[in-house]
Amino acid sequence: EFFAVIMAGGGGTRLWPWSRKEKPKQMLKIFGEKTMFELTLDRLEGLIDADHILVVTTNEQAEKLKELSDKIPLENYLIEPIPRGTASVIGLAAIHLEKRTKNSVMAVLTADHIIQNVPYFQQLLHFGFNAAEDDYLVTLGIKPTFPSTGMGYIEQGNKIPANFPHDLFEVKRFTEKPDQKTADCFYESGKYAWNSGMFLWKTSRVLEEISLHIPDLFGQLTRISQAMDSGTYETAMKEVWSTIQPVTIDYGIMEKAKRVVVLPANSLGWSDIGSWDSIYDVLPQDSNGNITINCRSHYIDSEGTLTCSDNSEKMIVAVGLKNVVIVETDHAVLVCPKEKTQTVRDIVAFLKENH
Ligand code: GDD
Ligand code: MG
Repeated sequence: EFFAVIMAGGGGTRLWPWSRKEKPKQMLKIFGEKTMFELTLDRLEGLIDADHILVVTTNEQAEKLKELSDKIPLENYLIEPIPRGTASVIGLAAIHLEKRTKNSVMAVLTADHIIQNVPYFQQLLHFGFNAAEDDYLVTLGIKPTFPSTGMGYIEQGNKIPANFPHDLFEVKRFTEKPDQKTADCFYESGKYAWNSGMFLWKTSRVLEEISLHIPDLFGQLTRISQAMDSGTYETAMKEVWSTIQPVTIDYGIMEKAKRVVVLPANSLGWSDIGSWDSIYDVLPQDSNGNITINCRSHYIDSEGTLTCSDNSEKMIVAVGLKNVVIVETDHAVLVCPKEKTQTVRDIVAFLKENH
């Protein structure tokens, strides 16, 4: 049986001030009327029943996410008392699925990425599910567009000689978030794909990898799983969850696991919308390259300028600006040259410490 596990617990700092702790990226309406979370669910329509979609998130966010969808059964929202990284998220979903059905295969997805080619996405997932049934850990690889240090890199090996309708390659090595020098090398060599952060695997396979490479987490998950049988799940979650060492699936498992393969996914129109400047790649621009999000805007003698507001009635006027990002919200205003928007993450860290 095929399931989707949507990870929706991110902090949401890089699109600050539009996205913030109380309103992370998955709650934003970047593309018209629907939030990123709703678009994530829409993409699965026809492929996976709502009943087979699990959402892992914090209590606070769950309340808001539940309001956005009336299809997903409420018990499919798995609540983490506190965020403990993606390995724990995936482990938690896995022990729930193990109870539900013995031979489950899961697609791990994020709630805050954009995918423009939905039919192709469904095709790839369908194919990925089948490859996962052959005990592979399947990653979806994206051709890098710049030497990013915020991505996982996949070194592609030989083609898997099987009668599959899509190409599938062995992964020689998985390197999470390399330093700049290494990222430059990887990028220039042309042999690497970015990890999209989406995975497909058998539930039993990922639990096996957790037991091998993160044995502490495996022990904690086992305790929680046993508590489900004895009706003490809530208490066990409270007691055990906070003792988990935060670890991501990328560092914890992907860098070490065996039988990892990559499914090239270049035509997805995928973006993780990592920062304001990456919005330029995915949203329509006017004839001068200006982008307007959720506000009324007026551009005079301006080009490559992005205006965005929390309040769709707000008028933002740009005069004589070139490649500037202007974001206006109730609580803060950001004005930043497009090429400096990567530093927004540092601003948020600074504000956290100093205000
Ligand atoms: N529920 C929950 N709890 N969700 C979480 C948690 C957590 O503790 N931590 C992260 N997530 C969610 C985020 O909301 C996001 O949707 C997804 O898991 C990935 O986490 P990020 O924090 O955004 O990871 P990243 O962007 O630094 O790196 C990952 O994604 C890249 C592609 O965007 C890695 O998988 C990289 O290898 C990959 O290239
Ligand atoms: Mg991310």
